[in-house]
Amino acid sequence: MTADAEEIRIWGLGVGPGDPELITLKAQRILRSADVVAYPAPADGDSLVRAIAAPHIPDGAEELVISTPMLAERYPAQDVYDRAAQEIEKRVEAGKTVAILCEGDPFFYGSFMYLYGRLSERLRVGVVPGVSSLSAGAAELGLPLAERNDVVAVIPATLDESALSERLAVADAAVIIKVGRHLDKVRRVLDDQGLLGGAKYIERATMEAQRMCDLADMSDQTAPYFSLIIVRKSVDI
Ligand SMILES: C[S@@+](CC[C@H](N)C(=O)[O-])C[C@H]1O[C@@H](n2cnc3c(N)ncnc32)[C@H](O)[C@@H]1O
Repeated sequence: MTADAEEIRIWGLGVGPGDPELITLKAQRILRSADVVAYPAPADGDSLVRAIAAPHIPDGAEELVISTPMLAERYPAQDVYDRAAQEIEKRVEAGKTVAILCEGDPFFYGSFMYLYGRLSERLRVGVVPGVSSLSAGAAELGLPLAERNDVVAVIPATLDESALSERLAVADAAVIIKVGRHLDKVRRVLDDQGLLGGAKYIERATMEAQRMCDLADMSDQTAPYFSLIIVRKSVDI
């Protein structure tokens, strides 16, 4: 640990994609000594990230639930993050250490970045990277992502069809995230480029309810929020 890290009282902790063992030793250590544990939760359900980190949350820690609209396309609720940042700041002023839990990696499409933007203007905020869904998905599917000069694109399925198609066309491999109700559109774009046959699908990677298959074998019309598709144009191993 660096000397600096001792003074940091706010941490964004990547807790990995689902399997509680995929948290780093550093995130685990910081979480175990936190006074306050903050995490997002959907307005109408349980917090997935809390469930992932549950084995490491210390008894007696205050839990600060950030009730957040979780729909992929919805513009982040600014007032939710304003209020959460204020609540966190109050705890820090009272001398407490706050751990903010982030699914996967905090800076890889994580909503943590909205808190980071607010808090880091005035306070020091540490970030502990985590295993992202991209790495976990590739590992579970047994599909190496890139070699030599390969270019990998991470493409949100929320893009419109032509943008999706353009990004896919120029990459050697692609990870398509935020699949959800865009599954049919993604299928169409992959099929147009002759890539449907090689595309692999995984949902809830490394969680107990993980499911994976060839995309071509999947008849579902929509996918759950925690799902992604990986496609490699040439696998030469
Ligand atoms: C807002 S992004 C957050 C990504 C996360 N910070 C990470 O490092 O993987 C959410 C998207 O990541 C993907 N995702 C996250 N966790 C996943 C998992 N365990 N299995 C499959 N996809 C996942 C899904 O495509 C989901 O729509």
